[in-house]
Amino acid sequence: MCGIVGYVGTQSTVDVLVAGLKRQEYRGYDSAGIAIIANDGTISSAKKAGKLQALVDELAAHPVREGATGIGHTRWATHGAPSDVNAHPHLADDGKLALIHNGIIENFSELRAEMLAAGHDFVSETDTEVAAVLVGHLYRETGDLRAAFARAVIRMHGAFTLLAMHSDEPGLIVAARHNSPLIVGFGDGENFLGSDVAAFVAHTHRAAAVGQDQIVAITSDAVTVTDFAGHSVMLDEFEVAWDASASDKGGWSSFMAKEITENPDAVANTIRGRIDAGLVTIPELAELGDDFLKGISRIIVVACGTASYAGMVGAYAIEQWARIPVDVQLSHEFRYRDPVVDASTLVISISQSGETMDTLMAVKYAQEHGARAISICNSQGATIPRESDAVIYTHAGPEVAVASTKAFVAQITGLYLFALHAARVRETLTHEDLTHNAAELEAVPAKIEQVLTTGSTVAQLAKWMSDTPAVLFLGRNVGYPIALEGALKLKELAYIHSEGFAAGELKHGPIALIDHGQPVFVIVPSPRKSAVIHAKVISNIQEIRARGARVIAIAEQGDAAVLPFADEVIQIPLADPLFEPFLAVIPLQIFAMELAHAKGLDVDQPRNLAKSVTVE
Ligand code: M6R
Repeated sequence: MCGIVGYVGTQSTVDVLVAGLKRQEYRGYDSAGIAIIANDGTISSAKKAGKLQALVDELAAHPVREGATGIGHTRWATHGAPSDVNAHPHLADDGKLALIHNGIIENFSELRAEMLAAGHDFVSETDTEVAAVLVGHLYRETGDLRAAFARAVIRMHGAFTLLAMHSDEPGLIVAARHNSPLIVGFGDGENFLGSDVAAFVAHTHRAAAVGQDQIVAITSDAVTVTDFAGHSVMLDEFEVAWDASASDKGGWSSFMAKEITENPDAVANTIRGRIDAGLVTIPELAELGDDFLKGISRIIVVACGTASYAGMVGAYAIEQWARIPVDVQLSHEFRYRDPVVDASTLVISISQSGETMDTLMAVKYAQEHGARAISICNSQGATIPRESDAVIYTHAGPEVAVASTKAFVAQITGLYLFALHAARVRETLTHEDLTHNAAELEAVPAKIEQVLTTGSTVAQLAKWMSDTPAVLFLGRNVGYPIALEGALKLKELAYIHSEGFAAGELKHGPIALIDHGQPVFVIVPSPRKSAVIHAKVISNIQEIRARGARVIAIAEQGDAAVLPFADEVIQIPLADPLFEPFLAVIPLQIFAMELAHAKGLDVDQPRNLAKSVTVE
């Protein structure tokens, strides 16, 4: 939550900062601001409540003065409502120091009282201003930004990435990281800071993640890093694997529309290089050792939101193929339930951003209690993979829309690859079954392409249903998490009350919701390969139709049994049952996006949300 950018160099600092914020706006979009140490030696700043465009308009009307050093921030409010005054940067030391922050400073009220007692005033309601005033206070004592900053950060608790600059030390930005992300970008005669690489990928592909409890100082030609105790630290540089154009809209009406069409590539790129002679091998898992994989007693998947639904889908494959029991737990629930884990437990975390605080804390908890932890992550250099024993990166490319789409199918792909790797090592599938399932996985991208051709039919359906107050989703087996995902997409994008249910649960309560005209999406399993549950789902459809439901079935091509009972049928290509989720979810993604469009809503930046939830 919140996007941060810092720049020291010779380009237009305003342009670099605004472009960096634009690429990170998905991290928070309730206010934005920039500050620059202008060429006249004073700090020039602007900040505005609302989306980034409000700041851009403000800058056009009242330009800030240019200079070689600047910081910028796009906010998701925690302390204090979104307003001009609560927007970052916050100034201190008589306007000579500017500071921005991502996270929550939990002991802010104690620090605020201390600064008030020392004679300082506050203009905002934010915890961030407390940090600014504290650094400014210590600057007066030390006359050195690095020293003041180092003394300030050890006083703060909670989660923070802080960037500060002082007009008495132009050409320098000092930043610190504690439980919140911070990445350095190395340029030629210029250097960058960002919450993620999107902040600077238009300028350099050379990056490094700043570690936990480290302080980094950048000038135009140097980057120095220490830990909070002052010891020098070397960063591991990596090459950013995608171009700035990958995070551009590229002519699409929204990032979400673009990202839905990238579903096939997300799967194909995640598979690439991991299937050899028909067998899945994930070199990254060598870290765990085959003996550990053979002796695993239990897997716990930890994740939030859409990632947790990917985990639920993956659990079916891991149990079926690798014969390991799997629990899927929401990260925030896992951590506080005193879970039973030991050295034979594998925790698999799933996170697109790799920065979800609840998931990070779940991983740390599991490791502290003796479990091994691997992550499935889409963001290079993010904190969760860095903290894990091994990582299976998904290669979905940057996902900018707040609603997760291509990352979801890439996460399922990562889990299926893990399951097939583990099944090979544990010898729980025959060679024929291993190669068959790998081939099914390789066939998924082309099948998703076929499903995408149903887009205009689904869009029409969404337009017809734009007034509907509630939508229900039903599924069984792997269709159940897809029902949950369909409901989540609709809630977050179209602000429509929607619920996903296991179809078998209907008669235990949810069927009371069915009334005349109630739209219900039903994910129908294959009649060829899941005859038993197919018959049960058809019975469920009849039960809800009898009570007036309007049924929209997502069913396999050629499924004649569903036709008499469904008002609408969206057809998906033939696939083995475990591979149906890849296909069934696509119309649901399109439906939610189109319904939000039809209601005139912003599909990329739904209200109250941010892409990366870096606070608990
Ligand atoms: O970055 P993560 O995958 O850890 O994010 C987890 C959830 O916050 C995320 O999937 C969220 O549910 C999406 N907005 C859903 O579209």
